[in-house]
Amino acid sequence: MKKLYGIIGDPVHQSLSPQMHNQEFEKLRIHAYYHPFRIAKEDLAVAIKGMKVMGVQGFNVTVPHKLAVMPLLDEIDPLAQKIGAVNTVVRKGEKFVGYNTDGMGFVRALQMDWKEDLAGESALVIGAGGAAQAIYFSLLSVGVKHIDICNRTVEKAEAMIDSSSSDTSSRALTLAEAEEEMGNYSFVIQTTSIGMASTEGKSPVSLDRLNAGAFVSDIIYNPGQTEFLKQAALKGAKTQNGVGMLVHQGVLAFEKWTGITPDVQRMTEVVTAHIGG
Ligand code: ATR
Repeated sequence: MKKLYGIIGDPVHQSLSPQMHNQEFEKLRIHAYYHPFRIAKEDLAVAIKGMKVMGVQGFNVTVPHKLAVMPLLDEIDPLAQKIGAVNTVVRKGEKFVGYNTDGMGFVRALQMDWKEDLAGESALVIGAGGAAQAIYFSLLSVGVKHIDICNRTVEKAEAMIDSSSSDTSSRALTLAEAEEEMGNYSFVIQTTSIGMASTEGKSPVSLDRLNAGAFVSDIIYNPGQTEFLKQAALKGAKTQNGVGMLVHQGVLAFEKWTGITPDVQRMTEVVTAHIGG
């Protein structure tokens, strides 16, 4: 009998995870199947219980359940606890253990596309929502010491820094302050929704002062090149869109479930085929 995996969310039809994971199960001859489950908010607790008793081996969690699922699990990994959100659940015996692979997925993609050793670098995170929080705590966990956060609502950036127990020199900046200081950063990460469909052609900040040697990421993967990345490329920076983060959060989940590293290139092709890249 095939082992069952899946993703819970609402909506969930847009998720590329079923295609990414099922392709790898098939190619690697792993006897398993990954199914999208649309679960309404009010049904979350009963869904988790159902998956437990039906023997589901692991699942991803997406909007709107990433926070709400936490008290329904048996254990939470320390990094997921810090981030305050779970996107991957692994069955360990009779326990469901929650992890967050979003932030480390971003870090892995950055290491592959840019450099392995990030510790000495100086980062600017734009935005202070859930994605920014996952990335911020994951960068701290791999030893990046200098990470500033800028946000339209600067208080949210301050709260994120305050919630970090690590010894950091992080500062919370307004978007205007970040524009002024842009030249100081060796990498810049755009995590807001600005640049997606309804705001296509817009950028949350000006990159006029960007250092030409900087590495610039936008976690948006559709469109494949946002206005923000276009501006960065014009400044001579190396750029990366959100495909790598999406793929690597899946790679990390797959590894946790099976102990096997899937084919990153094949998984990337699933995503790029979808966005027409
Ligand atoms: P996610 O979980 O995807 O990160 P989120 O938690 O809703 O989504 O966070 C959205 C981020 O985009 C926030 O940093 C938000 O800024 P505020 O905290 O000030 O709301 C940012 N954002 C959304 N719309 C924006 C806009 N028009 N201009 C600037 N920032 C915006």
